[in-house]
Amino acid sequence: MGEEKRKLFSAVQPSGAVTIGNYIGAIKNFVALQDEFDCIYAVADLHAITVRQEPAALRKNTLELMALFIACGIDPEKCILFVQSHVPAHCELTWVLNTLTYPGELSRMTQFKDKSAKHADNVNMGLMDYPVLMVSDILLYQAAVVPVGADQKQHLELTRDLAIRFNNRYSETFTVPEAYIPKGSGAKIMSLADPSRKMSKSDENPNGYVTMSDDRDTVIRKFKRAVTDSGNEVRAAEDKPGVSNLIAIYGAFTGKSAAEIEREFEGKGYGDFKLAVGETVADALAPVQAEKARLLKDKAYLNGVMKRGEEAAARIARKTLSKVYRKVGFYQGE
Ligand code: TYM
Repeated sequence: MGEEKRKLFSAVQPSGAVTIGNYIGAIKNFVALQDEFDCIYAVADLHAITVRQEPAALRKNTLELMALFIACGIDPEKCILFVQSHVPAHCELTWVLNTLTYPGELSRMTQFKDKSAKHADNVNMGLMDYPVLMVSDILLYQAAVVPVGADQKQHLELTRDLAIRFNNRYSETFTVPEAYIPKGSGAKIMSLADPSRKMSKSDENPNGYVTMSDDRDTVIRKFKRAVTDSGNEVRAAEDKPGVSNLIAIYGAFTGKSAAEIEREFEGKGYGDFKLAVGETVADALAPVQAEKARLLKDKAYLNGVMKRGEEAAARIARKTLSKVYRKVGFYQGE
């Protein structure tokens, strides 16, 4: 009693459909960690506009993601749930941290290089500065732990570097956070169409990903079509990336280990296994989809959650920001 829990922060971009990769790599842990930590979760709309978004779609996706968070089991009574653009401190801290960041640190980020190649017609400063905004998200809340998928590891390393750099220059200010990345293959769910690539909502081939709102038939069809490997043995191995990925997905939704799954499908072929994975995922998604649909009908409730979240988040963020402003020497009327 009375012992303060450590803080945890994470966010997801409202930039289209949320995939089961986002769920397994991140949102599932958001739910699992909510009792152990003081959790703060954001819909990262400021991040989303670094690639072109249709304004009406961005607004809709923001509300949908908020509903999905709650439908997946994040309890708004326990956690702070808010929309990033509602708390101005994120942009304000980004400016200060920009003055401690070198262009080379940002231009060599894998995600920046990938996204610049993909959106060659829109390589904007926001795309490059994206990691510093992410650093600000985390440091504003003095988060000790940040649950993310493996693709965010480099951004978490920058977060630690900048926290330490600021602390060394201006005295102890920020908590230096740790990434919380799922163990094993859950950290990086691969495309069903090409298991050498990450499952991504921005993939042009919709058969590569399963979204949290795909209906039962679509889910089963996508898994039936999933690219598997030569042979017909259900076994996790480096030379079997397709089957290993399906084992990771099945494991994430059933809680079974790879060894248990291999035993379960001993003597059965890929066909049986793929059908089982499809049915299991569809069964797991159905109640989440129903709850999300119910929540979306109650906009007043969702707006209320966001408003309370905004106020609670802003209170913590303002405290950190005012400390930062004092440390860097901004006159505050003393
Ligand atoms: P985003 O919206 O791309 O993805 C949300 C989360 O899902 C994880 N993820 C995956 N995990 C496993 N397998 C996959 N195929 C897969 N694809 C995505 C991501 O690692 C992420 O954890 N920049 C972040 C959002 C963000 C953020 C933050 C995260 C903004 N501010 C502060 C943590 C802390 C992003 O684009 O996530």
